[in-house]
Amino acid sequence: MQHRGEIETLIDATELAARVRALGAQITQDYAGRELVLVCVLKGSFLFCADLARAIDLPLAIEFLGLKSYGDAQSTSGVVQITSDLTRPVAGKDLLIVEDIVDTGLTMAYMRKNLATRGPSSVKLCALLHKPARARVDTPIDYLGFEIQDVFVVGYGLDWGERYRNLPFVGVVRQDAAP
Ligand code: IMP
Ligand code: MG
Repeated sequence: MQHRGEIETLIDATELAARVRALGAQITQDYAGRELVLVCVLKGSFLFCADLARAIDLPLAIEFLGLKSYGDAQSTSGVVQITSDLTRPVAGKDLLIVEDIVDTGLTMAYMRKNLATRGPSSVKLCALLHKPARARVDTPIDYLGFEIQDVFVVGYGLDWGERYRNLPFVGVVRQDAAP
């Protein structure tokens, strides 16, 4: 893949797989005896959610929520639009939001508020990545993959201007290689 040359690896595929397995095992233990609804936040979480779902040994349903946050290519304004909504009611269900990255926290704040209006029995958050340096609102993350520095990352679902989502690892784009 030619465009891999522009990326420096931050978290390789082996590390990702091991961490996702561990998160799945923890979630399996914590929700034992319950049924779970994974809410996969599109687009960035599609690979993480696919791997995480296979690491959870529980009866579960998967819902997808398409979100688009306005801003420039590398940061959000906090204005979030739902581009594709859940297909079923979630009242009385245990929801686990599966998100690629929590940056300012504004998207997850919106998402939690929005889901809460639908009367679920619980809402928790599983995020692959967290950049604490950029937090603007407090965002409790119940399950976290990796804490990272304040760098813009791509791969394993994450994009820069829709590119790089298909990289099987998380990396940093070299500054001279903008899309
Ligand atoms: P927040 O609302 O600032 O927490 O931003 C969350 C969203 O911004 C994530 O769901 C990502 O889609 C996007 N985002 C934030 N940081 C990065 C990054 O480093 N790479 C790719 N997308 C990012
Ligand atoms: Mg994005």
